[in-house]
Amino acid sequence: MTFSSPVPLPEPGSSRGQLLGTPRTPPASSREDPDPVLPKDWWRRFAEMLQDGDRPLHFDRPFGAPLVHPRHVDDLVRTMQKRADKKHVRIYCGGRRRDDLAHELVRARLPDGVPVFDWIRELCKSERMAFVINDVQDWSEVFARAAAPFLTGHFESRGVPPAGAEMVLFAGNYEATPFGAHRGYEHAFLAHLGPANKEFYIWSAELYQQLTGGTADLPNYEHLLPYATAYTLKPGDLLYLPAQWYHIGTQTEYSASVAIPMYQPDRAKYLAELVSEVARTAKHRILPRVSFQETGSAECAAALRREAEELLAGDGLDQILLERWRLHLSNGGLVRRTPTWVEPIALDLESTIARVRPFPILSVPSGKERVRIYARHRSFEIADHPALGRLVTALNEDRVLSVREVVTWFSSAWEESAVLGVLGHLSGMQAIEGVSRAEG
Ligand SMILES: [Fe+2]
Repeated sequence: MTFSSPVPLPEPGSSRGQLLGTPRTPPASSREDPDPVLPKDWWRRFAEMLQDGDRPLHFDRPFGAPLVHPRHVDDLVRTMQKRADKKHVRIYCGGRRRDDLAHELVRARLPDGVPVFDWIRELCKSERMAFVINDVQDWSEVFARAAAPFLTGHFESRGVPPAGAEMVLFAGNYEATPFGAHRGYEHAFLAHLGPANKEFYIWSAELYQQLTGGTADLPNYEHLLPYATAYTLKPGDLLYLPAQWYHIGTQTEYSASVAIPMYQPDRAKYLAELVSEVARTAKHRILPRVSFQETGSAECAAALRREAEELLAGDGLDQILLERWRLHLSNGGLVRRTPTWVEPIALDLESTIARVRPFPILSVPSGKERVRIYARHRSFEIADHPALGRLVTALNEDRVLSVREVVTWFSSAWEESAVLGVLGHLSGMQAIEGVSRAEG
């Protein structure tokens, strides 16, 4: 084939990506559910290795085990089958996208004891299959609770992307990512869960353009592989994939990975979205009439400029961002696009409760004797009581609280049923959970 780029190409011969043994803590262990918190020192060395923020990094089992055990993929699918919509799932059979089967997957019930891989392959009637699930953090507490502490460390070290992080599951025994070699638009982590290894090939944007003469994704990518940097991802390995790099994953045995893209929105689009939201909440005003001559457009521009300046001079933008930011903080930086809700836990005076870590609960005054509580990317407003602030503080300090004790804080002002109602609401938001004293 011929290449349109005048820049000399590197010699083909797939280079192996460096497997970074450091930074790594804790040491590899056989624990099934690892502690996803990487120490500050790990993140400091991550930043050093990243240099200008534009190179892939491959880490050897930094958590000592997969971020999430692959068996939780089956639980994820079962949960989605009760509540999800087909738009969260893509299924590819032998490389062909099958939206009819995605519909079937969320409508049906995975029989007990049947692995999801076998079941989807049966649906597909194909040896090779892939399934992709978006917004995993909305459907699986196991995934969300593993990713959030990991991301918290990253955000403390590198700052947080304004539009939040998502979790996207890629699973199957596909020959290659079904949509071929493609560009990632955000900085992302890829946590490989296993059980089999995955081969991953990466090209910088410059190299990809030299090789292909363009920027389009390519379903037929084989001729590009000799030029790629190749990585073998073992279960538990972590790959940092900077924005704009092209990549493809391949595997022949079943395995799952979770990608965590961190959305850093295009500033023009983000600003346009926010300003239009500000404009919608501002007082309705009609633009003045202007001259029906060449100068009319300049008069119109001047009037619009005045409107834009006035809109942005007020606190509308700050208020919209503040509201978004509180939701963002309360879910550990993970986006929430689906209004998932769980059955509140049954609580009585003998119950003990604690916060679901690492998700903070925020309590903000919202007008006359009212307070708004933010938790897990949701909020609700209630009448204020001094004990509410005390409750939120104690939960954020990770104290294990007896419901009987919490009820006494509200003394006679709130009935026991009202306190149990608030706690039940927080549990339905997945902000608190029942624990035994020993867990504190
Ligand atoms: Fe990708």
